[in-house]
Amino acid sequence: MEQRYFGPTKREVAVIGQGTWYIEDGNRKTVIAGLRRGLDLGATHIDTAEMYGSGAAEEIVGEAIAGRRNEVFLVSKVLPSNASRRGTIAACERSLAHLKTDHLDCYLLHWSGSFPLEETIAAFEQLQSQGKIMSWGVSNFDVSELEEVRSVAGEGRLVCNQVLYHLKERAIEHGVLPWCERYGVAVVAYSPFGHDDFPRPGSSGGRVLQEIADAHGATPRQVALRFLIRRPSLFTIPKASNAEHAAENAGAGELRLTEAEVARIDGAFPRGPKPRSLPML
Ligand SMILES: NC(=O)c1ccc[n+]([C@@H]2O[C@H](COP(=O)([O-])OP(=O)(O)OC[C@H]3O[C@@H](n4cnc5c(N)ncnc54)[C@H](OP(=O)(O)O)[C@@H]3O)[C@@H](O)[C@H]2O)c1
Repeated sequence: MEQRYFGPTKREVAVIGQGTWYIEDGNRKTVIAGLRRGLDLGATHIDTAEMYGSGAAEEIVGEAIAGRRNEVFLVSKVLPSNASRRGTIAACERSLAHLKTDHLDCYLLHWSGSFPLEETIAAFEQLQSQGKIMSWGVSNFDVSELEEVRSVAGEGRLVCNQVLYHLKERAIEHGVLPWCERYGVAVVAYSPFGHDDFPRPGSSGGRVLQEIADAHGATPRQVALRFLIRRPSLFTIPKASNAEHAAENAGAGELRLTEAEVARIDGAFPRGPKPRSLPML
């Protein structure tokens, strides 16, 4: 599995990780076997959140990583509705208890909400100084929100922005991705298969993925994942509910695409126009 420095941290992290949204809906044993198979294959970045199953996903992750905590780059998220200074600290304590661990490798604000960022960031800094989190980041932040983080926290504190990014949704390439690259912030692509909207085999884009996959003895999903991590700032966290899917996804960590193949995928799934800026209110 290829690893890269995760933003400004000194930590190398697997380019392909594992998501956990809705894992509580699957068969518990099968899901845990899937997460463990992913770990065996180096997909050691595990992403969860207090929101997922209201703590149920974190509990399953806790069971899956029992005895293997040191292998894992463990990420969880605080809900914006809990992200006051005290609320963030309490939410983190709950997540640690669910996950049966004493620290997170990275703790994220799930999306921006109504509590002032100063409060959430002060809580993150306190948690980090206590060793309960090793780093912190955000999720679903646009460029103006990222600028606000920079003005509150200074440079080098924010380590990642976890954002929607898949073949049919490339809007981050217009602003968020360049901003993160300029400031050395890791970009974690969530819903890399469009949640449940992967290009169908018979579609024109699906055929392109299949042809490239055939040339490498790989699968279309592996090709898609590799495209999404084609820049050094990028990571991704596909969710799988069983060992077969987890193994297929982790296999993308070994695949390498040529420049011509990347260009072909780029053409088959164009990033689309820059979103028009919102009218002044
Ligand atoms: N920060 C945020 O706001 C946010 C939002 C959304 C997601 N996320 C994170 O990103 C993770 C991934 O996103 P996602 O869960 O929305 O969707 P996703 O990873 O794009 O897609 C998951 C779907 O793909 C299927 N799948 C996975 N691997 C497969 C394979 N090898 N072959 C066939 N099907 C496969 C899964 O089926 P099975 O379950 O049957 O394996 C599931 O139906 C989440 O789990 C979560 O951790 C974060």
